[in-house]
Amino acid sequence: TVSNTVSTLLLDWYDAHARDLPWRSAPGAAAPDPYRVWLSEVMLQQTTTAAVAPYFEKFTQTWPTVQALAAASEEDVMAAWAGLGYYSRARNLVKCAAQVAAQGGFPETEAELRKLPGLGAYTAAAVAAIAFGQRAVVVDANVERVVSRLFAIREPLPNSRPQIREATDSITPEDRAGDFAQAMMDLGATICTARDARCLLCPLSSQCRIRAEGDPLELPVKAKK
Ligand code: ADE
Repeated sequence: TVSNTVSTLLLDWYDAHARDLPWRSAPGAAAPDPYRVWLSEVMLQQTTTAAVAPYFEKFTQTWPTVQALAAASEEDVMAAWAGLGYYSRARNLVKCAAQVAAQGGFPETEAELRKLPGLGAYTAAAVAAIAFGQRAVVVDANVERVVSRLFAIREPLPNSRPQIREATDSITPEDRAGDFAQAMMDLGATICTARDARCLLCPLSSQCRIRAEGDPLELPVKAKK
């Protein structure tokens, strides 16, 4: 099937080209610690990988487990967060750590993760897929761009979101959903970028509808604000 082809091409590309980021395990290796996945995904919500990396290292050195973070004072956590911005994330981080530590660990389903402080639809899906191998549909801004182009979705954002979600669902594999999600993010960050569509380097170029039909840079269309 086409969806199978897409996920296979993308996962093969990821095996060779995954970015080496401090919160990742090697592609195909055992899933990383849920605490590290959760912490990194919260930090990455509105912040670039380059800005997050040193904060992630500092946090995991200071508080290596969710129990350690739960025992920290909010003041110390806020001080360590200084510079990352969107400070409600740090307040939710402390609350969430306390709740998870009290529950004896992170829940493993998207629906249960969604109930934790600071976990929106994106973060709950990302943690379920990356830390627990669940087949969750993970859609961030990079994925929105890649999928809009791959399926030639011309409806403007944000109206196109349900269609993008369905299209992402249709190509998400049963196995390695976490690697698949991170591969989509890497593709959007390094190949299929907002300013550039480096189709000659793209593992999905043979499957890409907008490449066949027109100019990848026309998509995604954004509704005028
Ligand atoms: N942005 C958000 N989550 C990410 C991840 N796991 N890898 C790379 N970029 C990301």
